[in-house]
Amino acid sequence: MNFETLIVEDRGPVRIVSINRPKALNALNAQVVGELTELVEETAISDTVRALVLTGAGEKAFVAGADIKAMSDMNPGDALAFAGKGHALGEELGAIGIPVIAAVGGFALGGGCELALACDFIYASTKAKFGQPEVKLGVIPGFGGTQRMLRRIGAARALELCMTGEMIKADEALRIGLVNKVVEPDALLDTAVATANTIASMGPLAIAKVKEVIHEGANKALDDANLQEQTAFAALFASADQKEGMAAFMEKRDANFKGE
Ligand code: CAA
Repeated sequence: MNFETLIVEDRGPVRIVSINRPKALNALNAQVVGELTELVEETAISDTVRALVLTGAGEKAFVAGADIKAMSDMNPGDALAFAGKGHALGEELGAIGIPVIAAVGGFALGGGCELALACDFIYASTKAKFGQPEVKLGVIPGFGGTQRMLRRIGAARALELCMTGEMIKADEALRIGLVNKVVEPDALLDTAVATANTIASMGPLAIAKVKEVIHEGANKALDDANLQEQTAFAALFASADQKEGMAAFMEKRDANFKGE
């Protein structure tokens, strides 16, 4: 993998991806979105990577939004194509069968907040700031922010954030359920990687199914979503991982999952 805007580091089963355009506060242009999409697609077929941690290079920003300079001359057709790429990336992050954790240590604004929301969950440092300031630019979120924000924190809070463009700090983001955990800046990456390692030690087929039923269930009626859960639960009993996990419990030893 050879990327100009991403730094990729594998630590055991955990892949850490840092978006690296510090001079533009890691703003998302077409190249960054394209490289992230390629990275997710390559990671999806990896036999060794069991978790992804997404972060921003430098101390100031996770991602300060879609690149305003690149968007300033766009016509509606260009904007539709650009939004389509952002949405496709979000969908791929939701569909990849491993956990994706956003580690946000600074600004996560506009498309940056939307990118974090497209991850499975968000850990933040005490210096993180979140917001959807697109209305200040005369537009609205275009990478899934209105809809993922609605589903994450409810309509009234999503409307308030998207209408005021207000930036909120990490403690407020924690309070409203936008982020799962807030830690000191020095501890952010290690905390995200520790959780990623914990998940990576579980049965990979089970983790993929948890992700699938929760992501897909969010868009289904409860009866249909419950049926999907039952079917997935039953299907896992055809796996070697289920035999191994339950045998390990009964033999009082750690399980050795193979993802089979
Ligand atoms: N796009 C392009 N460049 C950006 C950027 C962005 N979203 N955010 C910051 N930058 C650039 C600045 O232009 C500046 O570059 P120069 O030094 O070449 O001028 C550099 O990053 C540093 O930024 P500042 O000097 O502004 O840093 P600051 O500390 O004073 O302010 C900030 C930080 C509050 C994050 C401010 O940069 C800011 O408000 N950025 C824009 C945030 C924003 O509006 N994001 C939403 C974009 S629209 C969107 O994302 C649409 C969508 O949903 C798809």
